[in-house]
Amino acid sequence: MTERVVAKAAGENIEEKKMTPASPIGVFDSGVGGLTVLKEIIRQLPGEDVIYLADTARVPYGGRSAEEIIKINEEIIPLLIDQGCKLIIMACGTSSSIAYPVLKDRYKVHLISLIEPGARAAVNATRSGVIGLVATVGTVNSQAYQNAVMDLKKDAKVIAQACPLFVPLIEGGFIEAEETKRVVKEYLKPLLKENIDTLILGCTHYPHLARALRERTGPNVVFVDPAEEAVAGARKLLQKAGTIKSQATTPRYEYLITGSVVQFQDLGSRLLGKPITHAKHVII
Ligand code: DGL
Repeated sequence: MTERVVAKAAGENIEEKKMTPASPIGVFDSGVGGLTVLKEIIRQLPGEDVIYLADTARVPYGGRSAEEIIKINEEIIPLLIDQGCKLIIMACGTSSSIAYPVLKDRYKVHLISLIEPGARAAVNATRSGVIGLVATVGTVNSQAYQNAVMDLKKDAKVIAQACPLFVPLIEGGFIEAEETKRVVKEYLKPLLKENIDTLILGCTHYPHLARALRERTGPNVVFVDPAEEAVAGARKLLQKAGTIKSQATTPRYEYLITGSVVQFQDLGSRLLGKPITHAKHVII
C-alpha cells in the first residue's frame, strides 16, 4: 500500500527550525537523475540521512517554461523544509539554472545549486579551453553554465547541446539500448567536431549514460559531473555550521515520489545499485 504525504501549501517565511546534525539533507529532481547526486552524498557524506523527492508525475522538466520550473521549485522546497531538512541540494540542472537565481535567498535553509560547482570543475579540468555542455533545453537556453564558465575563464569556449531525448530514454530504462546509443551519437557529433576536451554533464540524469557517452568521446575527454563539486561544497557548509552527521548511526534514505512508486523503486534500485524500498507517494 502506498503511504501518502500531503505537502502543505507552498509559502515563504517558513519558520526557522533548529538544525541539528541529525536533520536530513533534502535532495530533489524530476526523477532518477538526482540519484547521481545521492550517490555522491553517500560517498562524501556517508553518515547523512537524506530525503529524496522525485517529481516523476511532472518529468521531464527540461522543456518546461521558466515560470513552471520556478513554481515547481516553490512547491518542493517548502515541503522539504517542512520535513526538517537542514540543507537542500537542487539535484537538477534545470532547477539550478532557472529557479536557483530567483529563490536562493528566499528560504531560511541553504540551497545548493549545481551550476557554479560544475563550471568551476570544468574550468579546472580543461586544457584547451573548449568545453562541451550537454543539458536540457531549459538549462542550455538559460545560459547559466555558459555564463558561469565565462565568469571564471574569459577565453573559454562553451559548445552547448540540448539533449531532450535523454531523460525520457533514461526514465524509460533504456540505458544500454541501441536506440540510446544512436541518440548519443547524434547529440555528441557537433561537440566532437569542435574538439572539446571537457564535457559538462549538465543534467543530473546524464551520468547514468556515462558508458554510452564514453564510447563516443573516447578516453581523452574529461567528464564533469557537477554533483562531485556541489556535494563537496555542501560538506564544507555543514562542517562550518557544525551540523555534519557522523557515521555512528546507519544513515536513513527516505524517498518521496509524486508519480509511480513501483516504477521509481525498480529503476532507482538498478541505477543507485542499492535496493530502494518503502518509497512513499507524495501529493504536491
Ligand atoms: N535531471 C534534471 C536536470 O538536471 C531534470 C531533467 C528533466 O526532467 O528534463 O535537468
